[in-house]
Amino acid sequence: MKKTILISGGAGFIGSHVVRRFVNKYPDYHIYNIDVLTYAGNLENLKDVEDYENYTFLRGDITDENFVKTIFNEYKFSSVIHLAAESHVDRSIADPLAFAKTNILGTMVLLNAAKQCWNNSMENKLFYHISTDEVYGTLDSTGLFTEKTPYDPNSPYSASKASSDHFVRAYGETYKLPFIISNCSNNYGSYQFPEKLIPLFINNILNNQSLPVYGDGNYTRDWLYVTDHADAIDLVFHKGKVNDTYNIGGFNEWKNIDLVRLLCRIMDEKLNKSEEKSSKKLITFVKDRPGHDLRYAIDASKVQKELGWNPSVTFEEGLEKTIDWYLGNKEWLEHVISGEYQTYYEKQYNN
Ligand code: NAD
Ligand code: DAU
Repeated sequence: MKKTILISGGAGFIGSHVVRRFVNKYPDYHIYNIDVLTYAGNLENLKDVEDYENYTFLRGDITDENFVKTIFNEYKFSSVIHLAAESHVDRSIADPLAFAKTNILGTMVLLNAAKQCWNNSMENKLFYHISTDEVYGTLDSTGLFTEKTPYDPNSPYSASKASSDHFVRAYGETYKLPFIISNCSNNYGSYQFPEKLIPLFINNILNNQSLPVYGDGNYTRDWLYVTDHADAIDLVFHKGKVNDTYNIGGFNEWKNIDLVRLLCRIMDEKLNKSEEKSSKKLITFVKDRPGHDLRYAIDASKVQKELGWNPSVTFEEGLEKTIDWYLGNKEWLEHVISGEYQTYYEKQYNN
């Protein structure tokens, strides 16, 4: 069936992979990408699909009620895949209000517009909200987050995402708005902004800059290759149970310090660096992130069993592909680290 889908945040890291997948795989759907293009949004991420007939870019802010209402009235979207957000934990510590505005208010503006537009009939409509495993808080060395784990967010970022999840569910209960939420673990891959651990460290190695590991480096994350997440989003969007939640993860836990050592080893091989000049020598332990969650780990067995999803890319394979992409796209990297990035870097790492 012909669908008109609004994807928010499509010029960002995960959003651009989702847009690319949908416009290529579903020529009968029309994909509208709303993105205000913050520092993290970049139309270069979508160069290969920008001229597709089934794709339209709409520059706009999800917190702008008039703009959002206008585009809903004009294009009559049948579904929303909502990814637009402020997404970096360190920035949320520096500026929590910006996170409340975009992540909470922005989500509510989209929910309101969808509710109004779909008022006559909610049939075949869907508000699919992309969220994070960070809403569950932190784990100690054992256990996994399931869909039943109570929310217990610790950072302004995760608190804002948790709040947005609650609003989505509340609109489902109160106004019968059909929704799905998925909560995913740490993504990595091409087009990720170099403020997040993996691309930041690749960029720093390329520039012979120190690799700032927070605290003792014994924090654990569960890593998923971004196209596997896009694959899961596609499956959940089409086959997921309405008014339900799915956890998505890579079954792939790494302590930060072990991940960084592996990254250094692969980078050394690619850059022909001897042991003496190894990137490992750039590792520097720095002041810890305030409220740093010790461990995230997802139990993704529900999406596996109900929808048949499985990650397809191993970590070693994905990390190598990611490094190759950054090495082959130095121009992209140079563009995104010009301007605002330098000010951010100074503030975050040099004080
Ligand atoms: P990102 O920061 O790379 O991209 C966010 C995009 O949203 C950018 O294109 C930005 O311009 C846009 N945006 C921000 N504020 C906006 C506004 N007010 N109006 C319109 N557009 C706006 O983020 P990402 O890493 O791709 O994450 C996408 C979504 O997935 C987020 O909701 C995030 O919480 C969630 N998520 C991310 C990860 C991860 O590891 N990156 C894991 C789980 C869930
Ligand atoms: O778990 C999903 C979440 O993963 C997403 O919801 C977020 O949008 C995404 O940013 C990510 O959050 P993290 O805080 O886990 O990702 P980040 O890449 O910032 O950090 C990964 C780990 O590496 C974390 O333990 C902090 C550490 N770190 C990070 C940076 C940027 C460092 O040691 N040094 C650094 O300079």
